[in-house]
Amino acid sequence: MCGIVGYIGEADATPILMEGLRSLEYRGYDSAGVAVFNNGAAAVVRRKGKLSALQEALDAGSPRGRVGIGHTRWATHGKPSEANAHPHSDCTGRVAVVHNGIIENFHELREQLTAEGHTFTSETDTETIAHLVEKHFTGDLLEAVAAALGEVEGSFATVVLSEDQPDRMIAARKDSPLIIGLGRGENLVASDIPAVLKHTRDILVMENGEIAEITKDGVALRTIDGVPVDRDVLKVTWDASAAEKAGYEDFMLKEIYEQPDAIRETLRGRIGADGAVELDELALATEQVRALNRVYIVACGTSYHAGLVGKQVIEAWARLPVDLDVASEFRYRNPIIDEETLVVAITQSGETADTLAGVREAQHLGGKVMAITNVVGSSVTREADGVIYTHAGPEIGVAATKTFVAQIAAVYILALYLAEERGFMDAADARAVKAQLMELPAIVEEVLNLDEQVKEVAANYVDEKDSLFLGRGMGMPIAFEGALKLKEISYIHAEGYAAGEMKHGPIALIDDGTPIVVVATKSHVYDKVISNIQEVIARDGDVVAVATEGDADIARHARFVFYVPETSELLSAIPAVVPLQLFAYHLAKMRGCNVDQPRNLAKSVTVE
Ligand code: F6R
Repeated sequence: MCGIVGYIGEADATPILMEGLRSLEYRGYDSAGVAVFNNGAAAVVRRKGKLSALQEALDAGSPRGRVGIGHTRWATHGKPSEANAHPHSDCTGRVAVVHNGIIENFHELREQLTAEGHTFTSETDTETIAHLVEKHFTGDLLEAVAAALGEVEGSFATVVLSEDQPDRMIAARKDSPLIIGLGRGENLVASDIPAVLKHTRDILVMENGEIAEITKDGVALRTIDGVPVDRDVLKVTWDASAAEKAGYEDFMLKEIYEQPDAIRETLRGRIGADGAVELDELALATEQVRALNRVYIVACGTSYHAGLVGKQVIEAWARLPVDLDVASEFRYRNPIIDEETLVVAITQSGETADTLAGVREAQHLGGKVMAITNVVGSSVTREADGVIYTHAGPEIGVAATKTFVAQIAAVYILALYLAEERGFMDAADARAVKAQLMELPAIVEEVLNLDEQVKEVAANYVDEKDSLFLGRGMGMPIAFEGALKLKEISYIHAEGYAAGEMKHGPIALIDDGTPIVVVATKSHVYDKVISNIQEVIARDGDVVAVATEGDADIARHARFVFYVPETSELLSAIPAVVPLQLFAYHLAKMRGCNVDQPRNLAKSVTVE
């Protein structure tokens, strides 16, 4: 969580820092600040609230200088306030620090530093870094930061400046992301690539335990322990404009509309000319795939819902039993994993702390870990044994949309691969499924035409407080996802439930006019879903259904129906979720909510 940016070069640093922070605001937005150095003296401006509050303060008087750091915060230690906003300083005010992560031993460090005479002015764990740097500084900032971080337990991505050596930035990371953008006569450092793209496409991805000394003319990378590191430069090929709104009102809407491309790109190149699924990334030999006795999917939030889809398809096609856990449970469960278990970690950002801990736990127990992620160079790509990239492009809206459908496309590919390698799918069936898969982008394009209808329907529910989302089979994870989207961006309470479970409790919630959204696409449990709809109607619930085109009957049961094109049952997850994303989006907009930055949330949850 939290976004970091640093600049050193010939240009005015403040606007560059603000531009970088704007592209990182998805990582947190409860306070923000910059420290800019001019002729060796630091000017610090911090504000509680979003970046717009900081910008207002800067408009009234912006510090000028050619080196600076900036930060947008998502609070972990200490409430959102100006005093707790980064950058933080030492006692002398000569050191400025921004940090993302959690310093686990900060209470001990703070007590110790206080006893040594240091005075703290914030409640944050970050401030300990500034005081430790002050304590260890004997003329070389790099060595002071390395020594300071040697005392720190926990996770950090941090950038440190000092008035004593104002011609360099020191950046270091452990378990929180940090990249360096290599420019000409200027260099940048940031939590994520979009923050530097306007300046350079040449990126150094820092690894855990590394520290960099960055001047305007160069970067020296080494481990915190002092071993020099030679890292290949990553050339970013995607366009900076991909990270902009491209004319849409919000990133979320843009990303909903990018879903056909996200699926297309994720499928691209996965099915070879001979029709075989190509998944070299799995890094397992055919004998190892055949020896697998189980798959274990680990993920959080929306990615967990993609995992629920994965469980159904892998079991159906590859006939492998699939366990599934939210990562925060899995990591502490002492799960049953052995060398014959394939663990699939699904994480859009590749940085979710619980999922990464799950990956480590699974490897510790002997499992092979395959990651499904959207972010090249993210932590999970370095820790997992293999990676399937989703190629959805950067997702800026905090609520996951295009990365969800891309994750589902990736699990379809994985399931097909496992099925074929294990000999559980005959050639004709496999051909049919692949042909249907390739039609999904066009189908989603058609579903997007429902946008206006969904908006009109949503207008009926603007003042609702509660809602229920129901589904069976493939409809169940989609009901869960529809409920998650609605609650996180519109703040309407939404329960996602297996439709058959309704009568075991949630049915008590239904009264006159409660909106009940039912995923009722054609499936082997369609009749059961219709029975559930009847139960809802009998209690005066107000049914909105997602159904398959041509199903005229459903209109007799539901007040509103969103029709999606027919696909095979196991592929129906993708078309069915799109109207629910639009439903959440329009309701949230009509309620005046900030859909791209819902309250209390952040895009990557890098703390547990
Ligand atoms: C909801 C959402 C979150 C994430 C969750 C996991 O819209 O985006 O629930 O899905 O925080 O994040 P990743 O996939 O980055 O591990």
